[in-house]
Amino acid sequence: MNSTGMITDYPRFVKSFQNVSGLDLNYYKENQMKRRILNFMSTRGYQEDYTDFLKDLSLKPDLYDAFFKHLTINVTQFFRDVKQWDVFREKIIPDLLKTRSSLKIWSAGCSAGQEACTMAIVMAEYFPGINFSILGTDIDINVLKQAQSGIYDERDFASTPPHLLDKYFNKSEKKFQIKNTLTRNLTFKAQNLLTDKFDRGFDLIACRNVVIYFTDEAKDVLYKKFADSLNPKGILFTGCTEHLFGQSQHGLKSVSSFFYQKL
Ligand SMILES: C[S@@+](CC[C@H](N)C(=O)[O-])C[C@H]1O[C@@H](n2cnc3c(N)ncnc32)[C@H](O)[C@@H]1O
Repeated sequence: MNSTGMITDYPRFVKSFQNVSGLDLNYYKENQMKRRILNFMSTRGYQEDYTDFLKDLSLKPDLYDAFFKHLTINVTQFFRDVKQWDVFREKIIPDLLKTRSSLKIWSAGCSAGQEACTMAIVMAEYFPGINFSILGTDIDINVLKQAQSGIYDERDFASTPPHLLDKYFNKSEKKFQIKNTLTRNLTFKAQNLLTDKFDRGFDLIACRNVVIYFTDEAKDVLYKKFADSLNPKGILFTGCTEHLFGQSQHGLKSVSSFFYQKL
């Protein structure tokens, strides 16, 4: 690192880390990634040279997992940004159901599954009798393990209406396990949004709070791929700090804040 604390040979770091992890940091904003890498290294006592750090990443699974988690940022919760879920329930889903009788949904960058489960809860609670499937994908296999277990902590539910928590989760000691009535609609799998192929035929794709560190070029390609994966009139649901500029380029138009419809 130089005197300002920035990693000097960042391209080499990126290449070596890609060999270790398969994650290509070229798709992520360089300055923000450098800051996060530096921050992690210094809290773990790596001061001068990232050569040792990279070597240890291959040798120490706990260090690798912690670093990967730090880079990808898994923070989430059920009903995150609660107002968006009101729009989802009151407008978006009813509009979709005017022209279809079942829904194929994708939570892209699902973390430990809280967003995918929130969608399942809304469907079960407010649209009974409607068939739906929800796919959750994430690059981080550790969060996917939790998603598959369906077990959550109390803090995940800060924005969840209490009656829904009681109805859709079994509580044992301090943990909450999602009920089978919901899990049968949910599937989770590992996927890198930047490099892997996407399924098609979705009626709604939620990709929220995932692209925040992606470069503008990477976001552009991603939104185009999402548009290709949506059915006509399908919806892309973004995070509350994420605006699509030049949406019509991708064949998407805004139908409400943070909801875009495929033309
Ligand atoms: C902050 S969480 C967002 C979770 C949820 N969508 C929400 O809004 O609460 C971001 C997630 O994106 C995932 N992620 C980051 N880069 C990714 C990539 N290239 N492909 C797939 N998932 C990625 C991270 O592993 C993390 O779990």
